Amino acid sequence: MTNNRLSYTSLVKTLSWENGVLTLLDQTLLPVEVKVEKQESIEQVWDSIKKLKVRGAPAIGIAGAYGILYGVKDKTDLGVIEFLGELKKSADYLDSARPTAVNLSWALRRMVAKANTIIKGKPASTSKDIYTVLEKEAVTIHEEDKMICRNIGLNGKGLIKDGMGVLTHCNAGSLATSELGTATAPMYLAHKDGVSFKVYADETRPLLQGARLTSWELQQSGIDVTLITDNMAAFMMAKNKIDLIIVGTDRVAANGDMANKIGTMGVAILAKHFNLPFYVACPSSTIDFETKTGGEIVIEERDPEEVLFFGERRTGPEGMKVRNPAFDVTPYELISGFITDKGIIRPPFCENLQKFFG
Ligand code: MRU
Repeated sequence: MTNNRLSYTSLVKTLSWENGVLTLLDQTLLPVEVKVEKQESIEQVWDSIKKLKVRGAPAIGIAGAYGILYGVKDKTDLGVIEFLGELKKSADYLDSARPTAVNLSWALRRMVAKANTIIKGKPASTSKDIYTVLEKEAVTIHEEDKMICRNIGLNGKGLIKDGMGVLTHCNAGSLATSELGTATAPMYLAHKDGVSFKVYADETRPLLQGARLTSWELQQSGIDVTLITDNMAAFMMAKNKIDLIIVGTDRVAANGDMANKIGTMGVAILAKHFNLPFYVACPSSTIDFETKTGGEIVIEERDPEEVLFFGERRTGPEGMKVRNPAFDVTPYELISGFITDKGIIRPPFCENLQKFFG
């Protein structure tokens, strides 16, 4: 990524698929080291998702779609029924890596459904034929995500005006997707159009996605970005430094409640207090009509060590009890709108999400 007027090709590649091989940018090493890691097996892909080498809802969906291919690429000599069984097993295995972002299970379900459609349409298909179509489907999921993020950017960029301060939480950027990001897409496109604005990035404890990833990728692209710790957001709002909040999401329930990185709900409550617009950038793959309200969303609870250490430095006593929920649910009442690839969806969300995406 180089300075000033961003071009799509200058954004760092979060993941890529070439000649049947998946490579991931290891995000656990950023911003100190930019290292791409070749994935050799489905187990390695599972581990990369679990350890957040690849993270962010759309990116883990894409990694899952490619990862499932590793699970079945040596099984194409099997009969079709056995092959489908292996495919389903691989999907269930990868799905167990992280529970909250719906994009992972969405992409895996889409791959399994594609295989079943091929059999129905062409009963004479071999396992090899199915594998070939599945590889194309994974590439399609990846390419679609690029287009969806561009459209989120086009639909959202008008919210960002000259002189504004925009707050974001966690990383819903290029690193969390295939290209422009979701929350960052309006920022990248407004910047490309010459709008002059500042971004404030919450550092996002415990794993610092805001500090390590968002501030890094925005700085690389020449956007004016300032890093703050999570507990500074209220102060910045009180000082009139923030005019707009845009965050990403891991799952949107049918009523508009949405899960995102832990701390997002607090930012939304602050926004309400200071009467600031709170927008959620959201690709269609993140809307889950099967989940009626946010209360049904499974919240991932992660390793206590993530809270007990700041990098290498121990920050809590040994043996300390810890809670480490990775996400929280922002109630729909606190959300001004969803910036989607089909436009900005405003309340009532129950009705309007259905109308555009149901
Ligand atoms: O635990 P992470 O880093 O995967 O959490 C990521 C987020 O919470 C993002 O905001 C969300 O996935 C949206 S990414 C476009």
